[in-house]
Amino acid sequence: MTALTKEKPFYITTPIYYVNAKPHLGHAYTTIAADVARRYHAMKNVPTYFLTGTDEHGDKIAEAAKNEQMSPKEYADRISSLFKDLWPQLDIRNDDFIRTTDERHKNVVAQVLSNIYEKGDIYYSEYEGLYCVGCERFYQERELVDGKCPDHLKEPQRIKESNYFFKMSAYQDWLIDHINQHPDFIRPKQYRNEVLSFLKEPLEDLCISRPKTRLTWGITLPFDDKFVTYVWFDALLNYVSALGFPDDEKFRTFWPHVQHIIAKDILKTHAIYWPTMLKAAGIPLFQSLNVHGFWNMGDSKMSKSLGNVANPLTLKDTYGVDAYRFFLMRDMVFGLDSNFSEESIIQRINTDLANDLGNLFSRVLAMSFKYFDGRVPESDPHVEEEFDLSLEKEAMDAVDDYSESMDTFAFHKGLAAVFKFISRMNKFIDEKAPWDLAKDPALKPRLQAVMVNLLEGLRLVSGLLYPIMPGTSKTMQTHLGVDADPDYYLLEHVRAWKQLVPGSELKKIKALFPRIEVKESKQPEPVQVTGLKPELKPEITFDDFSKLDLRTATVIHAEAIPKAEKLLKVTVDMGEGRERTIVAGISKSYSPEELIGKQVILVANLKPVKLMGQLSEGMILAASDKKGFVVASFDTKVKAGTPVK
Ligand code: MSP
Repeated sequence: MTALTKEKPFYITTPIYYVNAKPHLGHAYTTIAADVARRYHAMKNVPTYFLTGTDEHGDKIAEAAKNEQMSPKEYADRISSLFKDLWPQLDIRNDDFIRTTDERHKNVVAQVLSNIYEKGDIYYSEYEGLYCVGCERFYQERELVDGKCPDHLKEPQRIKESNYFFKMSAYQDWLIDHINQHPDFIRPKQYRNEVLSFLKEPLEDLCISRPKTRLTWGITLPFDDKFVTYVWFDALLNYVSALGFPDDEKFRTFWPHVQHIIAKDILKTHAIYWPTMLKAAGIPLFQSLNVHGFWNMGDSKMSKSLGNVANPLTLKDTYGVDAYRFFLMRDMVFGLDSNFSEESIIQRINTDLANDLGNLFSRVLAMSFKYFDGRVPESDPHVEEEFDLSLEKEAMDAVDDYSESMDTFAFHKGLAAVFKFISRMNKFIDEKAPWDLAKDPALKPRLQAVMVNLLEGLRLVSGLLYPIMPGTSKTMQTHLGVDADPDYYLLEHVRAWKQLVPGSELKKIKALFPRIEVKESKQPEPVQVTGLKPELKPEITFDDFSKLDLRTATVIHAEAIPKAEKLLKVTVDMGEGRERTIVAGISKSYSPEELIGKQVILVANLKPVKLMGQLSEGMILAASDKKGFVVASFDTKVKAGTPVK
């Protein structure tokens, strides 16, 4: 057993959600991700704290309440409770739920504003700017796309008024230095790059008030009661007000270890406004901003304003809470966008959960009943070694890969590591063929060793799945006869091999995840390959072949090249911070969205060439037939940059 290093407390936050719309799958994703991170860190036996809540002031809410003919507070109470009541139904265990209308929050906002005002970082001035009500913020001209807000696709309003301003621009150089010196401050790194590139242009000061003549639904400025606080300046402070800033013990314990999760829509407010506000207020900065992409439906971001939302409760009721949590965490590459469809949930359930995990679990339990009367047998370590019957090495590799990924919020990779081990166990059964060993009494010690390793592997899997599927994890442990002991959820314990006690009782199971039958088959048409002449090229030597430097790479960006019918400009990650741009002639077979997140094989030492004015630094391997291209990939994800031999 490897001793784990002493870990620090863990504080995780989600954005506080606006109360102008009901919760949808996008909100559920972020909050489940935070819950998964919280549960994973609890497995390291450290104190954890998980905060979520609702953002209730500002124009947007006042407008929505007016439409419903309610007071803003009544309206906020109603929607806020929809969020608050949803989370337990998705097995989310937040420690606190903050509302920006809570007195505890309003007091902290006033206190921080007074501090910054007294310090001289807030001034009064007239301003004219472009304001997007959807985002509740002023836009700089250069941030607009075709004159419109890129998120709400609406032209912002031109507003001119006297207001209070925060001297954000004074902190620009300091912020750039901080981001440069702390590689994990904003991750994954494409968002860090985006922020740094935005900071190349001069920052404007931040308008932090709204005159009460225009908006009364907000926190009154402590130094001028004719104004309310700008909603973002109010909302961001929830992360400290909920901990009882400045004197509460909770604040002292958890604030130094804070990790924020957000989606890319609110990157600038969190990566620019928030750290400069903290700096001006003399509060230490957050550790990391963990940024994920959007769940899209059809071609656009799932959002209330576009009306293309998936209801998290309906999905949970249809597929079960664990399958739903699993799908969200497994299907989205943290940091990239994902397309939501019910077909993809069903596919994940049938393939990963019913086939790979579920079958393995019922198969191993059924064999344990058949050969050992439903009890954990004993296993002789010499027999394991002599006949290569141990899964310990693969199990330890799985835990290491899992931990490395979970530590950096790469939940999809953490799960991939667990499922790689699950497929290894399925192969192990086929290789060792327990049914043959059972035929010969002389082979019983080997049969025992095989079964103990499989049961032990399943115990380990049950532990690793706990943060994502707490219910399934418990069911598995009950059937493995170990559920009474809370230690079984400690990572150190999960990792320790051979924890099951020989002789302890197991329980039979029918199906951990029943398959979902799909009535209409959506099988693709078989590909007709006609007229293909597989003419072989002249022989080459091994030396010729070994001149090729083939590497795995992950597509992080892809876009069409204007006027080039077949070409896509593809940016790939080659690991260790290296990126390459490849011009690939595959646009008839792949849309840019389909490629993003795919792992490909790259000819990495091909001499760069310019195609349609774009530099292409390599080539992506693909099979080609009359119908087009199929990009070569692996059945399991491997680290970007791994040599392919
Ligand atoms: N109130 C602000 C946040 C203030 S935090 C100090 C806000 N609220 S919101 O209701 O619009 O929530 C935005 C967040 O909800 C996103 O950052 C993301 O966490 C989640 N999502 C909303 N729609 C989403 C998708 N379609 N896909 C993924 N996440 C989404 O912004």
